Amino acid sequence: MTSTARKRIVVLISGNGRNLQAIIDACANNSINGDIVGVISNKADAYGLIRARQASIPTCIIPHQEFADRESFDAAIQDQIDLLDADLVVLAGFMRILTDDFVRHYLGRMINIHPSLLPKYPGLNTHQRALDAGDATHGATVHFVTPELDAGPTVLQHSLTINTDDTAESLAERVMEEIELALYPKAVALFCDNVVTLSDTAPYRTLNTPET
Ligand code: GAR
Repeated sequence: MTSTARKRIVVLISGNGRNLQAIIDACANNSINGDIVGVISNKADAYGLIRARQASIPTCIIPHQEFADRESFDAAIQDQIDLLDADLVVLAGFMRILTDDFVRHYLGRMINIHPSLLPKYPGLNTHQRALDAGDATHGATVHFVTPELDAGPTVLQHSLTINTDDTAESLAERVMEEIELALYPKAVALFCDNVVTLSDTAPYRTLNTPET
């Protein structure tokens, strides 16, 4: 770990928040040189909000259905994130498509975890799609967020072997337990230690990506 100042992290969620919890725990035990300064959810009943409150992290609910369009919703989130003076925006199961303007505002300082071996299976239903394709392996990817959905440069990626008796549900659980809960804190730590950065011109690529 380097001796740089601790980074200010804002996490965006929509649901359970297991990845959020893993990052909360990694900040608490100093595996990450940063602190979560706010959690924003577009869903009032997201369990991740309870996890954040239990860790004494400020939370904010911004319900997308209360906004006329994506632009105004994203503008409201951006206001909150910028009030929190975030160094890093972490999308952790945040299930909204973001506008190009929003993505460009945080280019190089916003990352996402996606439950597939990108570039395979951007979008939804990744586990079923891997099974339907007869894939031997599946996994998860942490990537920088760029305007094209789930297509930003990889920070870290890890795979597992699909078992013959795996279902979409068992595979989702295995990817979460065996990969995501370790991969995302590790990727956040690399960013907070200034190890990985995004090139500042297109075509974007990750600089100094370590081996997974
Ligand atoms: C995770 O599996 C994450 O990879 C996925 O949502 C789940 C959130 O779980 N994200 C996406 O599919 C984004 N395209 P969590 O709320 O328990 O961390």
